[in-house]
Amino acid sequence: MAINCKKTRIRDAATRRFLPAVLITLLAVSLLIVLIGTNSVTHFVAPLVDEVDVYFDGSYNYSQIKEKLNLPRQNKLSIRLEKLNQLPPRNRDLYPNLARDHIVIVLYVHNRPQYLKIVVESLSQVVGISETLLIVSHDGYFEEMNMIVESIKFCQVKQIFATYSPHVFPNSFPGESPNDCKDKDDARKKHCIGTPDQYGNHRTGRIVSLKHHWWWMMNTVWDGLKETRGRIGHILFIEEDHFIFPNAYRNLQRLVALKPQKCPDCHAANLAPLDVNSRGEGRDTLIAERMGNVGYSFNQTVWRKIHRKAREFCFFDDYNWDITMWATVYPSFGAPVYSLRGPRTSAVHFGKCGLHQGHQKKGACIDNGKVKIQVEDADKVPNIVSEWGVQVDEHQQGYQAGFKGWGGWGDERDRQLCSNFALMYHSTNIGSTA
Ligand SMILES: *[C@@H]1O[C@H](CO)[C@@H](O)[C@H](O)[C@H]1NC(C)=O
Ligand SMILES: *[C@@H]1O[C@H](CO)[C@@H](O)[C@H](O)[C@H]1NC(C)=O
Repeated sequence: MAINCKKTRIRDAATRRFLPAVLITLLAVSLLIVLIGTNSVTHFVAPLVDEVDVYFDGSYNYSQIKEKLNLPRQNKLSIRLEKLNQLPPRNRDLYPNLARDHIVIVLYVHNRPQYLKIVVESLSQVVGISETLLIVSHDGYFEEMNMIVESIKFCQVKQIFATYSPHVFPNSFPGESPNDCKDKDDARKKHCIGTPDQYGNHRTGRIVSLKHHWWWMMNTVWDGLKETRGRIGHILFIEEDHFIFPNAYRNLQRLVALKPQKCPDCHAANLAPLDVNSRGEGRDTLIAERMGNVGYSFNQTVWRKIHRKAREFCFFDDYNWDITMWATVYPSFGAPVYSLRGPRTSAVHFGKCGLHQGHQKKGACIDNGKVKIQVEDADKVPNIVSEWGVQVDEHQQGYQAGFKGWGGWGDERDRQLCSNFALMYHSTNIGSTA
């Protein structure tokens, strides 16, 4: 009873504080409903994603939101996956408490069991990992991948599955349907469905799945999941081909703690250099450089900034999430987006030996399931020193504003689905107020 009263009061106070913002959202949402109501996919206008945390109390009716947003019709597997996503983390009996300042780790994977085994093995050696929650986000449902994740005993683990992954829909959108245009088909002549990209090519399910997964995962982790929504602090993101060194977690904690003084303008902390072939400079300095795509972490403030750019992200004609970020989202922030890191990497991207390894200094690769990555003593203990200064690397090469994109992301349906991912946890009142 007493607890209920208190809850209500807190909620009332919060409501009052957010009221103006909520009204704006409702307006935006009503507009969206009108737009969707008038129902033409080709005229779909991405709604302005407003920045109100109306997902907070978790009382939204998800199935109503799905109807209003016109998300794809789900099949049995997709519905099953959605239920799996509600399961509590495993290993809570072994690790009942997460450390107060823990940094959640999100590992996103598709279907490379040989790689995943190596990543999990490397994570098992990470000092401090038992203090945190590991979330594994799957693009598609693959038993062999599940078995590897189920074998993890070194920390709390939660598995989530992209419910609208093309891999979950074998013959309908977001997968490919028999009526879809292929390659350079002319939709009018062939009477097929699809809008080609800027180079005249139609979508491929398994290719667009990567960007969809990344965006679905970001939205779900920051704004959807009971375990993580509303988290203020940093979350670390790694991928199924990133080998993580034993000192990664402790180094990251240091970087995050040092960031406010050493680099207040840095948006993120990274475990690895932007240049994926580099192991770092080895000098006694911290480094601020453009944000990389291996072992990056940022806090909720930065997520809100990214989320506000949903339109830029979802409408840019490039199927790569990272190039999309570099070429449109980060430049739209108005100031350079730097990330803070140490001079010696704590994570490496690896590939199959013999492929694209030509100019790599110390080849990080796997051969027949065996990994060839040197972990030296210096990689086993924290090696970030708080007295160090910061070297800022300006004028780095790479994708910039103005780049038109590699294509692969021209289909209106993909853009709409992507836009909907940005809204699906933000629309508490869609049903009752429309
Ligand atoms: C959510 O909405 C659906 C469809 O409108 C309805 O069938 C369901 O009962 C609602 N669930 C809750 C918990 O209100
Ligand atoms: C989150 O990070 C940004 C960028 O580094 C920083 O400006 C902001 O103060 C941080 N927010 C919190 C709540 O720590």
